[in-house]
Amino acid sequence: MSFSVADIRKDFPIFERTIRDGKRLVYLDSGATAQKPRVVINAESDFYSKHNAAVHRGAHQLAEEATDAYEGAREIVAKFIGGQENEIIFTKSATESINLVSYAMGNAEAGNRFALTASDSIVVTEMEHHANLIPWQQLAARTGAQLNWFNVTQDSRLDLSNVDQIITANTKVVAITHQSNVLGTINPTEAIVKRAHEVGAVVVLDACQSVPHMSVNVAELDVDFLAFSGHKAVGPTGVGVLWGKAELLDELPPFLTGGSMIENVTMSTATWAPVPQKFEAGVPNMAQAVGLGAACKYLSGLGMDAVREHEIALTGYALEKMSSIEGMRIVGPLENIARGATISFTLADIHPHDIGQYVDSQGVAVRTGHHCAWPLARAMKVPATTRASFYLYNDEHDVDALVEALLGAQKYFGRF
Ligand code: ALA
Repeated sequence: MSFSVADIRKDFPIFERTIRDGKRLVYLDSGATAQKPRVVINAESDFYSKHNAAVHRGAHQLAEEATDAYEGAREIVAKFIGGQENEIIFTKSATESINLVSYAMGNAEAGNRFALTASDSIVVTEMEHHANLIPWQQLAARTGAQLNWFNVTQDSRLDLSNVDQIITANTKVVAITHQSNVLGTINPTEAIVKRAHEVGAVVVLDACQSVPHMSVNVAELDVDFLAFSGHKAVGPTGVGVLWGKAELLDELPPFLTGGSMIENVTMSTATWAPVPQKFEAGVPNMAQAVGLGAACKYLSGLGMDAVREHEIALTGYALEKMSSIEGMRIVGPLENIARGATISFTLADIHPHDIGQYVDSQGVAVRTGHHCAWPLARAMKVPATTRASFYLYNDEHDVDALVEALLGAQKYFGRF
């Protein structure tokens, strides 16, 4: 299948508009949120205009149609990441997915494999987004468990020289990012998963920045839980996914309680429905889940290997062009190996926010700041960076526009 960015852009209505007084939209902020193809917008809108009803409840045709659409989305999402349907839990975001696991572990009683005590440890990395750091800090604080982490090297990779000392017999959870939202680094999960499983720990993978950009298969990765958000994968906002191995989800206590997640209720007790319902209390985000199903179908139609190949080529081009700018420091791997299409940088001593504002005036949308990974910024010795994150609808013209805008920023701020 040929991969034509020009054709892909036609699927995304937002590229029909211009910005900043008629300039072409150069959207390089897909790491924050991706733009939406028409099929996703229509799927969500069709659900509301034709099938809207509360799933799993009503005894009427609309409820039946809504349930079919919602469960159909679960099937599509499961297939998209190589999991089973009953292993997919719809949440409101990847952040909620990770909080679900950490809070549920905190709810585990003595005897449950997930119960943590002061003699246990939780392992993260210095590269984590706050969403895969703070929930674990909080779980450690609530249970007395120790929080340990892998450091990041100055060449933007995880320091795995001491895996056996960081993941020990006391480790219960290892929570790592698949691809850094700042550096673009794609982490080697194999050694970490192997060591974690050797000591009986579970691995939670934050796949927010990988699932939208490459083929991700949970069976091949052999992780235990995986979280990603819909909106970064051309899907709607307000929907995230938690995938977990069925036997682990069975054992994990619930997080949110209420309607739909129960089997039997008396005035003083309740028992839980089987997974995934046990983790989906309340009327769920049905239209958003259906929109996410359409997004996964859209991405599968293009082929995730083709998306990845396109991004590898574009990243190579961008790294080369950007590196040739005087004063440029790429904060991330310089070589185009095991890295995604996210390029963070600083430019001389111009403040990243000033760069963001200037390039925006030229029609180029980037993100600036610590990107919700403050400890990582400290480790890389930068207060903030400017970040360009590329996706399937970007091409070399977008890279050229960024480079031109950066050269303009240099002039504007009187550097070089
Ligand atoms: N996590 C998102 C980002 O990296 C918002 O921009």
